[in-house]
Amino acid sequence: MNTNYIRLINKEHPLPESFVPDNLKDIGIPFDAPYGDPKRLLEEKAAHAALDLVTRARQEGLNLYGISGYRSYKRQKELFTGSPYVAAPGTSEHQSGLALDLSCPEVQMKLEEGFARTAEGIWLAHHAPLYGFVLRYPKNKEHITQVPYEPWHIRYVTKPLASYLSLTGMTLEEYHSLQENIKEAL
Ligand code: DAL
Ligand code: ZN
Repeated sequence: MNTNYIRLINKEHPLPESFVPDNLKDIGIPFDAPYGDPKRLLEEKAAHAALDLVTRARQEGLNLYGISGYRSYKRQKELFTGSPYVAAPGTSEHQSGLALDLSCPEVQMKLEEGFARTAEGIWLAHHAPLYGFVLRYPKNKEHITQVPYEPWHIRYVTKPLASYLSLTGMTLEEYHSLQENIKEAL
């Protein structure tokens, strides 16, 4: 099956338990996990884009590290605690192989809001769309995404859509709702 790079995945639009992405690949970036750990994987195109992104950051002296890429439905179920930072099984973009959490040594590789104020976090917010990624859970959009601000979580949506979302400030939820409105108006 072809990968649907613009697919909306959230509480209202879950993935089936059986969904496993095609073509999972090790991203090949410095990672806070050993080789062979599935969290180092992303869907092939997303993996290439993430490698380009992190390679560019490193050329600019920034130490971005991969923390978590692909997570199976089963793994998400093990991690699920009810915290708003951990999506319920089936509702995590990590199951699609299109989402990646990044961090840096300045915040001890943690996934915390302070990452947004590091040089790495600031660079990521500015440059992710050039590589086809968006910051999927922005500040002040929590009521739309239903997920707290996560400056570390990027989602591959292709370059054209990432540019569009970045220029308009729309979340993926707002984009899909716009598409539905357009269909209805036709
Ligand atoms: N942290 C996001 C919501 C996830 O678990 O997919
Ligand atoms: Zn994430």
